[in-house]
Amino acid sequence: MPLVPMRQILDEAAKGGYGVGAFNVNNMEQIQAIMQAANDTNSPVIIQASRGALKYSKMIYLKKLMEAAAEEFPHIPVSMHLDHGNSLETCKEAIALGFTSVMMDGSLAEDGKSPNTYEQNVDITRRVVEYAHPLGVTVEGELGCLGGIEDGHGAGLSADEVDAHLTDPAQAEDFVAKTGLDALAVAIGTSHGAYKSGRKDPVTGEMLPPNLAMERIHEIHKRMPNCHMVMHGSSSVPKELVDIINQYGGNMPDTFGIPVEQIQDGIKHGVRKVNVDTDSRLAITGAIRKVFVETPGKFDPRDYLKPARDAAYAVYVARMNAFGQAGHATDYKGITLEDAKAYYK
Ligand code: G3H
Ligand code: 13P
Ligand code: ZN
Repeated sequence: MPLVPMRQILDEAAKGGYGVGAFNVNNMEQIQAIMQAANDTNSPVIIQASRGALKYSKMIYLKKLMEAAAEEFPHIPVSMHLDHGNSLETCKEAIALGFTSVMMDGSLAEDGKSPNTYEQNVDITRRVVEYAHPLGVTVEGELGCLGGIEDGHGAGLSADEVDAHLTDPAQAEDFVAKTGLDALAVAIGTSHGAYKSGRKDPVTGEMLPPNLAMERIHEIHKRMPNCHMVMHGSSSVPKELVDIINQYGGNMPDTFGIPVEQIQDGIKHGVRKVNVDTDSRLAITGAIRKVFVETPGKFDPRDYLKPARDAAYAVYVARMNAFGQAGHATDYKGITLEDAKAYYK
């Protein structure tokens, strides 16, 4: 099956009432682990690459790996999505490379740091939609800003500032109408990376999960039942993965991610795409550290990259089951960008 437009995967997910994991990749091992997990759980899936990933992989390698993935598992609907595009030019480049979906993150300016005004966000997102839809390509936009900062991307907002940048449901309605986007990333208090919460139990001092404004998702879904929402920063940062890293010489402080139950609540209320990157990074790092510490004489990269791929695979399988996409790969036949062109007309 050729790479399918993400819009189809999200429409089908809405029909089936489930969410679909969108997993970030930088290399072959992650792509193979995702595809094996999708095959073994019979899941449609979204594979996404950030600008940093494209730079790291020199673009063409990632494109060819994605084509190989689609060729190896022709029955799995899979989209190739640009994560956090920062300009029309970046989106155009990704589309030229064969991406079937792009995110125009107009919540931030082109520097990927300073928050844009609402009008700027509407303008740039609409321009990307006008460019992408005639080519059959799906567009994700973002309204409101996430907390934290990851590899230079993100406004680096403090907990208080995040509150002021949460997605406003009434504005979301206007944003979707004015831009014509396919998927709306919402800011509800999640952030990228492994450190999502500044909250501690005042008595025990233990870390608490971040406070999420789930009611905003409920409200947006009530106002726009057909709008596909996206949750960024959705890694659960499992303690057992952090523990493995620390057990084998790492030094990660206590932390807390997004409990899977909260994501499932979002899915019940219109979240169709769930972004996960950090959990795969944690699994990979822990597995590699374990090999290095337990067998310091090893130097063949396959000796540690295979366990790393297996550890990432386990994360993907768990998420595919939890988000509900498992079992749905063969519900439908993937369409092409050509078919999607007709859809947008
Ligand atoms: O947007 C955040 C993703 O986790 C991608 O991260 O920019 O380090 O590749 P990255
Ligand atoms: P995590 O850092 O929580 O995995 O989020 C990834 C993400 O939102 C990519 O866009
Ligand atoms: Zn993100």
